[in-house]
Amino acid sequence: MVQTNLNGTTDRRIDALLALLSDNTMIVISGAKIAREIGVTRSTVWRWIEKLRALGVRVKGHPRSGYQIEKVPDVLVPKLLRKRLHQGPIGKRIHHFFKTDSTNAVAMRLGEQGEPHGTIVIAEEQTAGRGRGGHTWHSEKTNGIYMTVLLRPPVAPQNAPLITIVAGLAVRDAILEQTGIAPDLRWPNDLLFGRKKFCGILTEMNAEQDRIHFVAIGIGINVNHLKIPEDLAEIATSLRIETGRIYSRVEVVARLLRHLDSYYNRFISEGAESIVARFTEVSSYARGKRVRIATTTGTYVGTTEGLEPGGLLRVKRDDGRTLPIISGTLTEAD
Ligand code: BTN
Repeated sequence: MVQTNLNGTTDRRIDALLALLSDNTMIVISGAKIAREIGVTRSTVWRWIEKLRALGVRVKGHPRSGYQIEKVPDVLVPKLLRKRLHQGPIGKRIHHFFKTDSTNAVAMRLGEQGEPHGTIVIAEEQTAGRGRGGHTWHSEKTNGIYMTVLLRPPVAPQNAPLITIVAGLAVRDAILEQTGIAPDLRWPNDLLFGRKKFCGILTEMNAEQDRIHFVAIGIGINVNHLKIPEDLAEIATSLRIETGRIYSRVEVVARLLRHLDSYYNRFISEGAESIVARFTEVSSYARGKRVRIATTTGTYVGTTEGLEPGGLLRVKRDDGRTLPIISGTLTEAD
């Protein structure tokens, strides 16, 4: 197995502590017993319990009486997540962080160190979450999903946009299943409720001219945010704001990885056409949408005319020219 050197990754024994408490929700377990079972001192158990409480995990009790939780906590640690995942390469290896700079940055480093296809990097909080176009991604503690999936697809770099679309489709289906509401997909892979975005995807790639070494697909989902920062409130939302419900992030991640596995296999076995067709089916942006595209050299308006076989979006500009979008930010034109 590949050995990777990661600073700040969650101690496996905290993972074990959470699993132990979750497997015994009806029972008060003494600090001494926990300490013995996971192989740390009682004072470390106490310190870690405090850390979990700071994350919102409701742990009852104290060092003298012992500890108990009443329901399985919604923390994305490997032991709790794995219980919900199916067999397969995606999610076989999970690196969890309570806090990290960016799960994409970590995954890119891991990719260079030879980490296998399907590895996941997931964090409760990011201090420097990366967004597209050099923006930052607002990564509020424990309310969102901040996850990067490392894939080693056997396809040419020109097909990379399709892998991003594959991820967007997987998020769409997972959210529909979870909330009962079908989100829209704004090309290439923003997930929207109405005109507001609740999920963004940033794909970073390490490739040669004719071969992808690996891609890091970073997915950020606003799940249980009650409020969106003022400067984003006009354009962003969360699952909770839209539906008035609180969601289990573990459940959302499990669904998402299942759909990702299925769309990825479809892409590898059936090819681009099937992915392009599916996107066209579920995205209001694929055809006949009036859009504004802001690029570094200027802004133009036009109407979408479907996807090219490689996944690029064709737009008939108001000046009469039809071109695929290579870069820039796309929004709905009024
Ligand atoms: C966008 O701008 O729409 C893309 C946002 C992608 C954010 C996610 S959060 C998990 C992963 N790690 C990062 O640093 N960014 C991505």
